[in-house]
Amino acid sequence: MAFPTETVYGLGANALDSQAVLSIFKAKSRPADNPLIVHVSSREDAERVASGWRNRERLLVTKYWPGPLTLVMSRRNIVPDAVTFGMDTVAVRMPNHPVALALIRQSGVPLVAPSANSSGKPSPTSAEHVLSDLQGKIDVVLDAGPTEIGVESTVVDVTAERPVILRPGAISVEELEREVGATLAPPHAELARRSPGMRYRHYAPAASVEIVKEGDVETLSRSVLKHLSEGRRVIAVVHSEEFRAADIPIPRIVLENDNRAIARDLYSTLRDCDSRNADVILFEEVREEGIGYAVMERIRRATRR
Ligand code: TXA
Ligand code: MG
Repeated sequence: MAFPTETVYGLGANALDSQAVLSIFKAKSRPADNPLIVHVSSREDAERVASGWRNRERLLVTKYWPGPLTLVMSRRNIVPDAVTFGMDTVAVRMPNHPVALALIRQSGVPLVAPSANSSGKPSPTSAEHVLSDLQGKIDVVLDAGPTEIGVESTVVDVTAERPVILRPGAISVEELEREVGATLAPPHAELARRSPGMRYRHYAPAASVEIVKEGDVETLSRSVLKHLSEGRRVIAVVHSEEFRAADIPIPRIVLENDNRAIARDLYSTLRDCDSRNADVILFEEVREEGIGYAVMERIRRATRR
């Protein structure tokens, strides 16, 4: 069953039932070695699936739960191997959405819930996105309208002395650094080992994505001409005054000039470009502060083929 959270729509199943968990991997065509987040509606539930609670972890959940913070902690035996691909850690979060919380409570068990997209596609921020990927593969989607935040939760590994941010998200890198001295995981090799999900080309539209520096109209124009001369269909996704005003002969999607709004509209915009059959998306770079870091991380990953 798919359901809304404050970040993106999730595809839920009983986290304590291996068969149910495996059916989620199947519906999404998700690689089995990419572990799932266990969603809870209470701290007691969180303590039932994860161990290693110290003052720091209690402080984090007091401050951010329910909300877009996922903690990677030691896994308790009650969590089946299928959830974590046998790893000894488990990711836990309490979503900040009344429908999600009610569903978990009514189920009486914690729910695994990956984003409810086909693996590799942009995450769904509306029930329509869920259906466009998973219709016929899932039974129900609870529709509560578009999600508020638009990018996935921040994933923080708190198993070591120093917390490590494995996936930037709605709760910013700066803030977690200030609160608990968290650092951003180094990219590539080590990250792939610690958070298997980060290995995959994710969040990606069918079109290829190219990043253009904020306000750099000259580079934008040059790139537009190059692609047009090679016969490609190009769309620009822009937010700055300069790019709005630029004289370029291609369609443009204008986002609100604000990092939160850009995050909220990011995935629906990428899907929109696909439905217009774009070959290339020229994406205007976003300042890497607050949630802008998560936006650029998703976009950079989408540029990889
Ligand atoms: O905002 C969200 O977190 C959404 C909503 C639906 O709650 N869920 C979501 O789940 O984004 P998913 O499965 O699409 O992404 C889970 C991420 C992956 O990058 C995965 O590798 C990482 O969390 N992860 C899960 N368990 C982990 C673990 N034990 N150790 C390290 N990384 C883990
Ligand atoms: Mg996902």
